[in-house]
Amino acid sequence: MAGAETRDKAGDASFKPFHRPTALPIAFTAAQTRDLVDLLVWRRDVRAFRREPLPAGVLDRLIATACLAPSVGLSEPWRFVLVEDEARRAAVRVNFAAANAEALGAQAPERQAGYAKLKLAGLDDAPVQIAAFADPDDAQGHGLGRLSMPETIDLSVAIAIHTLWLAARAEGIGLGWVSILDPRPLARLLDVPERWRLIGYLCLGYPQAEDDRPALQRVGWEDRRDPACRLLRR
Ligand SMILES: Cc1cc2nc3c(=O)[nH]c(=O)nc-3n(C[C@H](O)[C@H](O)[C@H](O)COP(=O)(O)O)c2cc1C
Repeated sequence: MAGAETRDKAGDASFKPFHRPTALPIAFTAAQTRDLVDLLVWRRDVRAFRREPLPAGVLDRLIATACLAPSVGLSEPWRFVLVEDEARRAAVRVNFAAANAEALGAQAPERQAGYAKLKLAGLDDAPVQIAAFADPDDAQGHGLGRLSMPETIDLSVAIAIHTLWLAARAEGIGLGWVSILDPRPLARLLDVPERWRLIGYLCLGYPQAEDDRPALQRVGWEDRRDPACRLLRR
């Protein structure tokens, strides 16, 4: 994934992410605001991918955009591990199958048949697969913001994943977040430091179909709720 230049910048605190010069302050037009909402409406968790690879350079650009995400104390604790090795990918599929069988068994008996029909990962076809980890040990950020809430490290990585999700969708590329995995064996399989925590295993590629509704809603597994019922006042 990373070109030599990107790799050379690792750990270089003076590294500036790509930046498009804009007039300041930036003002969004009404059309741009509508486009942003459309992006959010049409972002989907994708599990059915076309096998064609992403064009050269796209992945590096998407990762660079994901790294614009906020992070606690500017710690940037995300570590993206591009999984290319076929044997490792096969082992991820085995890990998923075992975790998914366990998850099926944990469903209420009357829901198990419905659960078994769900497609919950695009691991067979996604041309790009990335394990996203949180590194709790890097001194970057000098501990700011995370003493009383250490989970903010993991939350920062989750936000970076969402940023990647949106950046990908804006280019017509789908992302599927897989969490039905046993994280410790997966981390060992990918030979990453013991203390890194798996936040998500991400499948990326061109989607077989577009939709403005979550797949789980479309198949009747769950519905969205009225946002008004999520807002509390005190
Ligand atoms: C933390 C997290 C973990 C998820 N894990 C899975 C998963 O293992 N398998 C899956 O099919 N979808 C997974 N999803 C996708 C959700 O099911 C999906 O986001 C939700 O149904 C709403 O659909 P949408 O993303 O298309 O709007 C995950 C999403 C998040 C945020």
